[in-house]
Amino acid sequence: MTAEQLQFVFAIGYLVAAVLFIFGLKQMAHPRTAVRGNLLGALGMLLAVAIALVSDQLHYPLIIVGLVIGGGIGAAFALKVQMTSMPQLVALFNGFGGVASVLVAGAALSLSPLGTPELIATALTGVIGAVTFLGSVIAFGKLQELKLFRKPFSFPGQQIVNAGLALGLVVLTVLLVANGSNTSLYWLLVVVASLLGFLLVSPIGGADMPVVIALLNSYSGLAAAATGFVLNNTVLIISGSLVGASGIILTQLMCKAMNRSLTNVLFGVMDGGGSSADADEIYANVRSTSADDVAMILDGAQRVVVVPGYGMAVAQAQHAVRNMAKLLEERGTNMEYAIHPVAGRMPGHMNVLLAEADVPYEQLLEMDQINPTLETVDVAIVIGANDVVNPVARTDPDSPIAGMPIIDVDRCRTVIVIKRSLSPGFAQIPNPLFAADNALMLFGDGQQAVLDITNALKEV
Ligand code: TAP
Repeated sequence: MTAEQLQFVFAIGYLVAAVLFIFGLKQMAHPRTAVRGNLLGALGMLLAVAIALVSDQLHYPLIIVGLVIGGGIGAAFALKVQMTSMPQLVALFNGFGGVASVLVAGAALSLSPLGTPELIATALTGVIGAVTFLGSVIAFGKLQELKLFRKPFSFPGQQIVNAGLALGLVVLTVLLVANGSNTSLYWLLVVVASLLGFLLVSPIGGADMPVVIALLNSYSGLAAAATGFVLNNTVLIISGSLVGASGIILTQLMCKAMNRSLTNVLFGVMDGGGSSADADEIYANVRSTSADDVAMILDGAQRVVVVPGYGMAVAQAQHAVRNMAKLLEERGTNMEYAIHPVAGRMPGHMNVLLAEADVPYEQLLEMDQINPTLETVDVAIVIGANDVVNPVARTDPDSPIAGMPIIDVDRCRTVIVIKRSLSPGFAQIPNPLFAADNALMLFGDGQQAVLDITNALKEV
């Protein structure tokens, strides 16, 4: 086969890989086909990597060492990470994607002279990749709830500083394109962009993190796509663009779910409100209950809705919830699950957990679907959810979550809230639902509490 024919075969192979990515993404949009979609995407990636390995003169021993070290670290992370820590891991992987793009573009710049379009792409890679990297590290710190990152960090005039840094990046890009051989300009640009990434993400706090993660995910794709232009690699351009586009779509969905505009998320500082004095006042009339009493209440209920949140994931209570639901269904109770789009710590978190416990998909109702019908619900069981059922979003225009749509469980006839204490959720604000006239708190670990209710139900 001539070299030209071989290039043609490789190009077709890349095209097949890109088609596999697109079909994979399409199938990932529905829980029933998601696993197959994931496999298709992985197959596409395997094909793309295989072609990349054979299509060029490469230093294989070095690549194998890289694969073993990188793959080893990845496998160790994947085996060790708790399901509840997946969002942090995703944030970190976004950051690694960004820094990988920065390094590849930097290497391409040092190894051979680049034309103007490639130099522009190199500068873009440096900017987007570095913003993604440091932004993702900060997002990781916030999601991990590390002390250093817990409080949003901002200072007066920060947006002017950000604008100054952005302008500096434009100047550095122009200088780099004019002096393509000057690699130190590139690394200076990377440092300035990293600082911008830090300053962009550090003021964003609490409940807005889902939007930030989706946006950083999109940035990591755009950085990869820009690297594709530096290397003239079609499959990198296509796969990077797919990640970039799907990340932007997810960002939009998250903004809509939280009733926030993207500019508001990025430039409005969100602070955890509510002092402990507020909390003491709000929680003055909290009533606690026992598993036996909850079983009695459930015994006569026609319609029961479970509202899961992050705490259900922490407690790994999904199987216990499913068993309790089966028992209630056998007694003729109509069971449903109300899913808030940002419940938990990653998109689809609750859907994944409930699917794992074989909860029928038809019983999962989205917030918009279930909210208008909540008045007819006899018992709502809120398990490990807090911010997504906090009525201050509706009632207090000064609250950091004001305007965010919530699941209006306070409109149900009786609300049972299962959590370990009265401590706040991710947004760090007190929740008046816990002291509502129709609410009862069942304090304890989510799984144990549901097991206790189930045992008590068997006795009723
Ligand atoms: P949160 O508001 O974070 O509340 C979770 C509650 O679970 C806590 O109040 C905690 O109370 C309780 N909990 C923890 N461990 C528990 C256990 N073992 N058993 C029982 N309860 C337990 O959760 P949410 O209502 O799901 O809201 C999600 C929040 O995270 C939103 O603010 C959202 O914006 C943010 N967020 C979401 C995402 C995505 S994409 N979904 C990403 C990042 C951030 P105790 O400590 O008293 O038990």
